[in-house]
Amino acid sequence: MRTVDELIAEGVRGKRVFLRADLNVPLDDTTGERIITDDGRIRASLPTLQALRDAGARVVVAAHLGRPKGAPDDRYSLAPVAARLAELLEVPVPLAADTAGPGAQAAVAALSDGDVCLLENVRFEAAETSKDDDARGALADRFAALADLFVDDAFGAVHRRHASVYDVATRLPHAAGRLVARELEVLTRLTGEPERPYVVVLGGSKVSDKLAVIESLLPTVDKLLVGGGMCFTFLAAQGHGVGDSLLEADQVDTCRRLLADAGDKIVLPVDVVCAEALVADAQVKVVPVQSIPDGLKGLDVGPHTVELFAGHLADAHTVFWNGPMGVFELAPFTHGTRGVAQAVAAVVGLSVVGGGDSAAAVRQLGLDEDAYGHISTGGGASLEFLEGRELPGLAVLADGAA
Ligand code: 3PG
Repeated sequence: MRTVDELIAEGVRGKRVFLRADLNVPLDDTTGERIITDDGRIRASLPTLQALRDAGARVVVAAHLGRPKGAPDDRYSLAPVAARLAELLEVPVPLAADTAGPGAQAAVAALSDGDVCLLENVRFEAAETSKDDDARGALADRFAALADLFVDDAFGAVHRRHASVYDVATRLPHAAGRLVARELEVLTRLTGEPERPYVVVLGGSKVSDKLAVIESLLPTVDKLLVGGGMCFTFLAAQGHGVGDSLLEADQVDTCRRLLADAGDKIVLPVDVVCAEALVADAQVKVVPVQSIPDGLKGLDVGPHTVELFAGHLADAHTVFWNGPMGVFELAPFTHGTRGVAQAVAAVVGLSVVGGGDSAAAVRQLGLDEDAYGHISTGGGASLEFLEGRELPGLAVLADGAA
C-alpha cells in the first residue's frame, strides 16, 4: 500500500489531491447552534492534511457527517467542521456549496498551492452509499474530475464500500494517509501475535452488533470482559432476571452457546447500577446481578465489577477496549466507564481504545489521552478489522496505482 509520504516524495506541488477524511464528529444542537462536542477526528486528520499543504498540494477534503438521506440537509452540513478545521489549521477553509457540482468545481478552481477546501457532506449525494456500482461509479467520476490524486485517511470509513472511499480510488492514483497507516500498524499488532495476556473489553448497547467480533475474538483472547447494555443479554442467558434493562431476547440462545463454549474466557459484571429512568438526576440503586429488581433498568456496571475488570486488566500485556460500560454521558452512570478507562490507561503494554464512543468517553471524562497506546478513530472499522473481514477501502488502496 502506497503512503501519502511516498506520494509527497514523488512531488505533489500544484496537484489537486482528493483527501477523504473521517470528520464525522458528535454535535450538540440542543441550543439551536451546532456545537462540536469532540473534535478528536478532526485533530487526527491534521498530520496528513498539513503534510500535503506543506508540500504545495491543493487539498480537496471530502467527508461525511451523520446519515442524511441522500439529499442536502442543513442539519448535516459540514459548516461547523469547516470552521473548526480552519481554527486548527489557522488558514481559511472554504466550504463548497455542494458535494460534486458547480459549487465544488468553483471551490477547487479557487485553490492555490497549499490551500484547502472542504466539499459539502458526501452523503448529500444519494449515490455515495448506493449498492448500485454504476450509480456509485458515476459519482466517483465526478469526484475524480475534481482532482489528480486520491489520498484516503478516513480510517473510520474504510469498512464502507462508498463512492468517496472505494470507487474514487479505482479512478485516480492513490495512497493511504498517515492516520490510516498508523491505525493499521497498531491494529495489526492485535491480529498478529499479541503479547499475552491479551484482554478485550467490550461494551456498548447492542449485543447483536458485537456477536461477529465476539465469535472471532474468543479463540484469540485470554479474557473477554463484557459490560454496557449488551451484558444484560448475557446475564439473561445465565438465567438472571434483568428487570427493565436492555435485552435482545432473540440473542439469548447465542449468548448461552458462547458461554457454554468459552465461559472460562467471558467475564460478566457482578453488580450493576440501576434506575427507573435514564435521567440526569436519577435515584440510583447498586445491586448484585442476581437481584436486579423488576421495574428498574441497569444503566452502568457497579463498583465490584470495575474492581473485577481492573484486576484482569492489571495482569494484561495487550488490551483492546471498545464500547462504554454504561450511559456515561449522564452523571449517575459515568463511574463504570471511568473506572474501566482508568484501568485500561494503567496497562503496562499495548492499550488500544477502539472507536467512536469509547474514544469520545476518554476525552469527555477528561482522561489523559497520552496514557493510551493508541486511540483509534474507527468504531465499526476497527471491530471489522479485528474480525478479520476484508475492508473495501483498504483492499482498494492495496491494489496499487489506478
Ligand atoms: C463512524 O462514525 O464510525 C464512521 O464515521 C462511519 O460512519 P457510518 O457508520 O455512518 O458509516
